Amino acid sequence: MRSGLFSRRSIRPASVLSVGSAKIKLLLACCALFTVIALSGRTASWSQYTVSSSRSHLPRTGYTLLINTWKRNDLLKQSISHYASCPGLDSVHIVWSEPDHPQESLVSLLNQVLKSNAKDGREIELKFDINKEDSLNNRFKEIKDLKTDVVFSIDDDIIFPCATVEFAFNVWQSAPDTMVGFVPRIHQVDPSKGELNKYIYSGWWSVWWTGTYSMILSKAAFFHKKYLRIYTHEMPSSIREYVTRNRNCEDIAMSFLVANATGVPPIWVKGSIFEIGSTGISSLGGHNDRRTQCINRFAAQYNRMPLVPTSVKAVDSRHTWLW
Ligand SMILES: *[C@@H]1O[C@H](CO)[C@@H](O)[C@H](O)[C@H]1NC(C)=O
Repeated sequence: MRSGLFSRRSIRPASVLSVGSAKIKLLLACCALFTVIALSGRTASWSQYTVSSSRSHLPRTGYTLLINTWKRNDLLKQSISHYASCPGLDSVHIVWSEPDHPQESLVSLLNQVLKSNAKDGREIELKFDINKEDSLNNRFKEIKDLKTDVVFSIDDDIIFPCATVEFAFNVWQSAPDTMVGFVPRIHQVDPSKGELNKYIYSGWWSVWWTGTYSMILSKAAFFHKKYLRIYTHEMPSSIREYVTRNRNCEDIAMSFLVANATGVPPIWVKGSIFEIGSTGISSLGGHNDRRTQCINRFAAQYNRMPLVPTSVKAVDSRHTWLW
């Protein structure tokens, strides 16, 4: 029927027009249908193409899971057994700040979990980075023998599906100097102060409302390993001391550091979060005052506000409907 319409049109175009608007509407509808079919066909073949090509171009090394944990071995095990099944995972570094060394039973349990969950018999390295002092800076200590260029910094109580993690990894590969992750936050000029250099820290609701963010929290973020070195050895020690003393804001300090080094905003990646533990302090109210103090303190330290706001969000185009 479709070919009939078209051949008729090609032979006697004028007659189609004269038959009346119903036929034209039908023709237009057919055209629209064709376009949709053709486009969906293209998207399907494109997505197959990108999937296979991105797989063959994956660099030999993937990413290192840098996981921060504190006396929650069950969550640690749950988390590690999940990420072990993600294809890009190369090694696991556990930031360990508990007074006692990890028990031999825990180490062998985690190794066993990694072995049984890794795909295609890959070997995933497991390392504990033991810290004497209990400081939030431990999470960003320089790691000398890191095999990958990038770490995926994660808290022990949140889990992302492997596809989401791999997508964020791909985003990072196209912008390897910036932070790429799942938890955005925003700083804003404090309207009550009447000065342009006083800021407030705003939580998730502001990001949701304005669609704008300027930080990606290190509870779920990819960043280049060089920032661990810079954080540990080159960032002003007063910032590290502030973090240790206040037991807060190591993630904001890292956001400042990366923004100061790059001059560009981080990248927020769309992804669903699964919380497996009870929620930490960051989701409770009253927490933002201390974060606001950190922001003003760090901005004074840098003599400027390095954070850059943006409203760009990276979305996996294979999962978006239409465009
Ligand atoms: C910020 O970046 C500049 C330029 O790269 C650098 O010279 C400076 O040391 C950095 N500031 C801090 C506090 O790290």
